[in-house]
Amino acid sequence: MNTEFKKRLEELSGMTDRRLEDCMNGVLSGTAGQRKVAEAMEYSLSAGGKRIRPVLTLEFCRVCGGDPEAALPAACALEMIHTFSLIHDDLPCMDDDDMRRGKPSCHIAFGEPTALLAGDALLNLAYETVCGGSLTAGTKLALIAELTKATGVNGMIGGQVIDTAFEGQMDESMLLDMYSMKTGALLKAACKMGCIAAGAGDEKIAAAELYAEKLGLAFQIIDDILDVTGDEKLLGKPIGSDSGNEKETFVSLNGIENSRNTAKTLTDEALSALEAFENTDFLKELTLFLLKREY
Ligand code: IPE
Ligand code: IPE
Ligand code: MG
Ligand code: MG
Ligand code: MG
Repeated sequence: MNTEFKKRLEELSGMTDRRLEDCMNGVLSGTAGQRKVAEAMEYSLSAGGKRIRPVLTLEFCRVCGGDPEAALPAACALEMIHTFSLIHDDLPCMDDDDMRRGKPSCHIAFGEPTALLAGDALLNLAYETVCGGSLTAGTKLALIAELTKATGVNGMIGGQVIDTAFEGQMDESMLLDMYSMKTGALLKAACKMGCIAAGAGDEKIAAAELYAEKLGLAFQIIDDILDVTGDEKLLGKPIGSDSGNEKETFVSLNGIENSRNTAKTLTDEALSALEAFENTDFLKELTLFLLKREY
């Protein structure tokens, strides 16, 4: 990994981690019952994770001429919603996975009721967080609208419903639509919210959207490949989960090699969309890093 890129990635994810810690300090008090759910939230949130969504928000804010610090509440809100989606995704009623981010999944460590509620509470804390910070009320409202759309029935949650309700019944086109919802929607919100926080115009926002559409599909295809070829220790989550649940994935429909080629083509298309911005060295490296990742 290029050292300049690595340094910047650590800077941006470090900024996010510190702010997430501050946000959690606000809820880690109260009675024993309240503390239990707060501890479960913190357990999953601080377990690691690549922090890709907040990094995208902060960096898109910067390439649109904004101050990344101003986009930090939005970036943290996205990571909270993403973490909520992972906690629920691992539940026995969904993918039934016991490991996440290198540790026992939230429901294994805290039990199902607390894991369910920790997910709900992270969703709620996300909205509280995006309401804070220094941006104008109008900008915050635009950010909240974006976050809501990306999380809901036409976004991540809708995609997760299709993923579980149509297991074993999807063709490639339905699968890709589902990917752009369950995974693409939050990545798209991450890029767009960075632009919105910087006060970017429609043209930049449309380019960010195009970039994220391509990145989202490539990201989920790579995730599917890693579910077959990955190393559990590096990934921090079980491999073979998709085949164990008899899910169609891009890999089960097209094989590893074709899937890799498609992810590469989508990555090239994402890189082209970055031409609408200046100073994109870091974003380009990040896009390539996500293609080549092993975790
Ligand atoms: C995993 O997302 C779930 C998908 C959308 C494929 P990440 O690969 O970003 O998970 P973390 O945040 O690094 O744990
Ligand atoms: C989940 O996709 C996407 C989410 C919205 C959580 P996966 O079920 O493939 O994610 P992993 O592989 O468990 O991280
Ligand atoms: Mg899943
Ligand atoms: Mg899963
Ligand atoms: Mg997966």
